[in-house]
Formats: sequence, structure tokens, C-alpha cells
Amino acid sequence: MSAPRILIVDDEPDMLENCSRILSRQGYACTTAGDGAAALAILERERPDLLLTDFKMPEMDGMALLQRAHEIDPALPVIMFTGFATIESAVAAIKQGAFDYLPKDFSVDQLRVAVERALRHRGLQVENRNLRQQLEQALGLENIVGRSPAMAQVFELVKKAARSEANILVLGESGTGKELIARAIHANSPRASQPFVPVDCASLPEQLLESELFGHEKGAFTGAVRTKPGLVETAHRGTLFLDEIAELPVTLQVKLLRVLQERQIRRVGGTGLMDVDVRVVSATNRDLREAIAKGHFREELYYRINVIAIRLPALSERAGDVRLLAHTFLKRFGQGRVTGMDDAAAEALERYGWPGNVRELQNVIERACALADGPVVTVKDLPDHVLQSPARSTALAPNFLGEGVPPTGTDLTLKAAKDQWLQVLEVSYLRDLLARHDGNVSSAAKAADIDRKTFHRLINKYGLRG
Ligand SMILES: Nc1ncnc2c1ncn2[C@@H]1O[C@H](COP(=O)(O)OP(=O)(O)OP(=O)(O)O)[C@@H](O)[C@H]1O
Ligand SMILES: [Mg+2]
Repeated sequence: MSAPRILIVDDEPDMLENCSRILSRQGYACTTAGDGAAALAILERERPDLLLTDFKMPEMDGMALLQRAHEIDPALPVIMFTGFATIESAVAAIKQGAFDYLPKDFSVDQLRVAVERALRHRGLQVENRNLRQQLEQALGLENIVGRSPAMAQVFELVKKAARSEANILVLGESGTGKELIARAIHANSPRASQPFVPVDCASLPEQLLESELFGHEKGAFTGAVRTKPGLVETAHRGTLFLDEIAELPVTLQVKLLRVLQERQIRRVGGTGLMDVDVRVVSATNRDLREAIAKGHFREELYYRINVIAIRLPALSERAGDVRLLAHTFLKRFGQGRVTGMDDAAAEALERYGWPGNVRELQNVIERACALADGPVVTVKDLPDHVLQSPARSTALAPNFLGEGVPPTGTDLTLKAAKDQWLQVLEVSYLRDLLARHDGNVSSAAKAADIDRKTFHRLINKYGLRG
């Protein structure tokens, strides 16, 4: 992990030099500024962990700087240097939110102790915030339900892989729990008390995604009214979760690769480089090797993000887990009103192929809980297609993909038949569109006039390849 960053502000160059020499020797990364305005620019750009400032300066004094600094980063500890005559003002500064003050003729030890104390305080604050987040989101492996041998293997691998610093690629069909696994990796890693920052690579157009990821400087483009740190920066010392990584546009793949190789980042429109230390967990339901072969994914990036691969089995490959998951979801959505399920319903769930995996099961149970008249879910609370599709091999979507026509001569309700026809239409439309755009999701989505995220969901739903 990289050294804490300290910003030192004083109008006397000797003081700046002296202070930064002492602290650099102790392993801190120091930046200096000769006045308040320069200090604010650095604060916005570099997000230091600690600010040391002189009290008396021409133009903006230490008090004014303190206030402005806390507008940028409310948790930033500030230590104020003060001459003997201004001790009272220093006390006032503490009342205003400074963390500590030091006499201008400080000893090396005094400086060291004050800095250590302030940084420890900063560390605890950050840690508290992150721990609180974790508690709220409940992220550990204990939240991932599964007793099948296939899942037991996954849990073992997650525990081992999490301990290492290696970048991890989580693979699996849509709805298999890739995001849950990514969060569990973070929660079980040495970085658990640091931020976990998810980025959905499919959700934004390229330009926006670029500034989301890497941040931008004020004025970098129209609308960039203030400097904004990127998500990669926000994940500093923590975990960056790149969801749907196959959807990352190639130009951004190249930029990301550079950031990971050099461990440094440059904001859009910025000139300076900043150190970043992130562990990357990525997820995709696509075959990245195939994307590489088609020129849609950069091979070097693939090797960088895929040091350890964790493959999540489809729900249909997790013997016994359907029942277990169904009961977990019953508890969650039944709200005490619905508490069980009869045998026929449980058997129907086990027979069904679950092309949408755990997410589909969760939706089915949520719906059933809403529809159930009494405390027990029965088959009439389950959707028709779950009852009618006997097994995964003959499940709806693959059938359609093979033949391009919906089944006829079956006893479907009108609604179920309509749903199926609609799906046939959607599949053939999407497949045609994708082919005409040479598998390029962004341009196909544009032609269809729907956003990339929705488009992406649709091609996932039908297992189409970009
Ligand atoms: N083993 C599990 N135990 C409990 N809940 C699960 C499990 N797996 C998935 N879920 C739940 O199913 C839903 C889908 O999971 P998640 O979002 O992690 O899937 P995903 O693989 O990222 O899907 P997609 O590729 O569509 O983004 C979530 O609400 C998640 O909480
Ligand atoms: Mg996901």
C-alpha cells in the first residue's frame, strides 16, 4: 500500500523545506504549497490524508484555508503551525475543527507524534465508515446460500483467492451471484476495511464512463464545472469491482491497462499523475477469449485481470440448492405472512431449468409471496412458464434460438403464448441487429435507440453473443 500523503502549506520556503524533509525521511509522501490558493488546488487534485498549515499567511490565512479544506474533504485532519503569540488563535482553530496545533519551533519528535496521531485518527475514521458500510450491506460469504458440492468448491476458492492480492475474474451466467461473490472477496481480503467500489461497465456511454472511471479536472469538457475524482481513485487501497467488463469499450480497456500497469492515474484534462493502489475484481457472463479473437477485448488486459478465475456454476448445476434458496427467499419476502411451500410447488421449482439462475428464482419467490392467499405457496402462485418448461435442455430461450419459431400445439394460456411470441420477436430482432453491427453492442444499441444497459440485459437474457 502506498505512503500517506501530506500537504504542507506555509509562506516561508525554509519552513516548507524543513518540514517536508523531516516527514519524507519518515516515509510520507509530501507536497508543498506557498499559499492558500495553491493549497486548495492541490487538495482538490490529490486528496491528501493530512494538511499541515501555517496560521499566519498573507492573502488566505490558516483559518480560511481550514474552512475551505473541510468543504472539499470534511474528514481531513488539519494541523496548524503557530508562533507563540498566536496560541489563542490556535485554540480558536481547534474549535473551528483543526485536529491539533504545533509551535513553529517544533522538535522533530513533536512533529512526528502529531502527524502519527492525526493520521491514525484519519485511518480510524475511514475504517469506521467502511465497516459501517459493510455492516449495512452484509457482505460476507455467509450471505451466499448454497450447500451443493459445486458451490462448496467455489467457497473454498473464494477464501483462498481473497487472501491474496491477485486480480480476480468472476465468470458465470447472468444471475448466478457474481456481484455477491465479488463483495465477499473484498470482505474476506486484507483490504476489507477500505472501500469497495463497483463500476458497471455496461451502464454508461464511453465518454461518461471514462470520466466516471478516471475522474476529470475542472473545465476538461463542457459541463465539467468542478474537479471530480474518478472511481479508480476512490478505490485507492481498496477493491475496484469492474462489472460486465466485456462491455468496456476498447479505448478505455487500453487506458485501464495502463493504469493497472503503472499504478498511476491521470484525470481527464489533467496533467499530474496520482498513485493508486487498487485490487481489481472483474465479472462477466461473456466468453472473453472469444471476444479477444474477435478483437473486442485486449489480450494484455485479460491476463492482467484474470490472475485467478472463479467460475460460478449455473443454478441447474447446484444439486439441492434450489430448495434451500427458495426457503431463504421465502423468509425474506414472506414477511412472516407466508412461511412455507407445498410439495408440488417445491417439486416444480426443482424441475424447472432456471435460465435466469438465482435472480430468476428470487423473482419467482417474491412474486409467489405476493400472490399467496395463505401462509403456504402453492403451484398456482408460480408463473406458467416455470410450470410448463420441464427441464433446462428444452427451456424456452435455447429452443427459440435453435428454431426461431415458438412451440405450437401446446396448451399454453393466451398470455403465456403471447409472451413467448414476443420473445421470439425480440430474439430475432436482436440477433439480426447484432449481426449487422458486427457484434458491436454500443452501435447496435444506438441503432435500436435503447441504452446500452438495457440492450445488454436483453442479449444476456437470450444468451446472444455480441
Ligand atoms: N447463492 C446466493 N444466495 C443468495 N442470494 C443470491 C445467491 N446468488 C445470487 N443471489 C441473489 O440473486 C441476485 C442476482 O445476483 P447477482 O447480482 O450477484 O448476479 P450476477 O451474476 O451479478 O448477475 P448479472 O450477470 O445479471 O449481473 C441478487 O439479488 C443476489 O442477492
Ligand atoms: Mg451482476
